[in-house]
Amino acid sequence: MQYITILGATGSVGVSTLDVLARHPEQYSVYALSAHTRVAELAAQCLQFRPQRAVVATAEAALELTRLLRGQGVSTEVEYGEEALCAIASAPPVTGVMAAIVGAAGLAPTLAAARAGKKVLLANKEALVMSGQLFIDAVHDNGAVLLPIDSEHNAIFQCLPHAYGRAPAASGVAKIVLTASGGPFLTRDVATLDKVTPDQACKHPTWAMGRKISVDSATMMNKGLEVIEAHWLFGAPADKIEVLIHPQSVIHSMVSYIDGSVLAQLGNPDMRTPIAHALAYPQRIDSGVAQLDLAQVATLQFERPDFRRFPCLALAFDALRAGGTAPALLNAANEVAVQAFLDEHIGFRQIDRVIAHVIETVPHGAASSIEAVMEQDRLARAAAQAFIAHRLAA
Ligand SMILES: NC(=O)c1ccc[n+]([C@@H]2O[C@H](COP(=O)([O-])OP(=O)(O)OC[C@H]3O[C@@H](n4cnc5c(N)ncnc54)[C@H](OP(=O)(O)O)[C@@H]3O)[C@@H](O)[C@H]2O)c1
Repeated sequence: MQYITILGATGSVGVSTLDVLARHPEQYSVYALSAHTRVAELAAQCLQFRPQRAVVATAEAALELTRLLRGQGVSTEVEYGEEALCAIASAPPVTGVMAAIVGAAGLAPTLAAARAGKKVLLANKEALVMSGQLFIDAVHDNGAVLLPIDSEHNAIFQCLPHAYGRAPAASGVAKIVLTASGGPFLTRDVATLDKVTPDQACKHPTWAMGRKISVDSATMMNKGLEVIEAHWLFGAPADKIEVLIHPQSVIHSMVSYIDGSVLAQLGNPDMRTPIAHALAYPQRIDSGVAQLDLAQVATLQFERPDFRRFPCLALAFDALRAGGTAPALLNAANEVAVQAFLDEHIGFRQIDRVIAHVIETVPHGAASSIEAVMEQDRLARAAAQAFIAHRLAA
């Protein structure tokens, strides 16, 4: 039996994970679940999956969850706060941790899982983007296993040799090719982009996801974060990582080898495939996803990204090349800007301007410790908020 903690159980990835787990009760037991504010949804999940522990954000939310659970006769122990998140990620009975909290808030518990030597199923790309080598070292030094959940990185993982070892040249890898749908504004007149609403930005053409990653997909910052994530997961330098627009989202990514071979992983765009792959790795289990019908798909299209349409993608490549804490600055500025856009405080095209301002004005340094990374995260958030406040006042 494998005992699974899901960090971010009420989100899009969390719900898909529970869907896969529910299909295999003989193999998986839910040890703990977490949510931030959606207490009623978490209570319903606890009623169905009967975890030993559940974690929410605040003491009030914990009281509310306890009341809901006891009313239904559910004895799940309820806790709250970051320490409790780290505790359910590192508790001795846990074998696997699905890291599916969105944003920098996921760093501490995901790192706690790595430090406790768990099998870490990484959806929370922001954690790896921020902490880079520190996270990879924590995995390595503690005998943890890191399996990518992002469909692109899971695809690349499946296309690489079994004993890859983060050394592309040694495995004959010429290039890693990340595919991207291009999001909802791939063909929209660029001049009209500042008029788009949060709901339009969140209407992804091929994937159903949380609102932050949906906006990231519309700006292509999501692909930028994935480029940085691919660098850390697969040891590939920026110039060996290519982004290719593929609107059908059927090829989830590819690996080009020096002999001219290109290996790709294909499937319907449904997160349950990479989730099931990582949960059962190296075995295969049913994910509930329909088999791909290529005759029905019929056409697969590809084009190179236009960096003028998607300046966030260029900013991410620049941050990766700059190294140190530059990716942490990029990530923090992006989180603040996306939230301001979702709250309708700034327009869509101002997202990249906020990020560029932060990168230009906050000096980056060495990512020598998690504390140094968190300090840069704090400075970047303050700079982004000040820039937005200044714009609003003008
Ligand atoms: N969705 C996808 O298809 C997909 C694909 C690849 C990678 N990812 C990555 O997976 C992660 C989750 O994405 P998602 O789309 O599932 O996001 P989502 O639907 O917004 O869910 C986020 C989850 O994190 C919790 N959460 C939010 N803020 C938190 C905080 N400050 N502290 C603790 N928990 C917090 C939420 O709780 P509440 O529900 O209570 O707010 C929810 O359970 C992101 O890093 C994303 O980039 C997602």
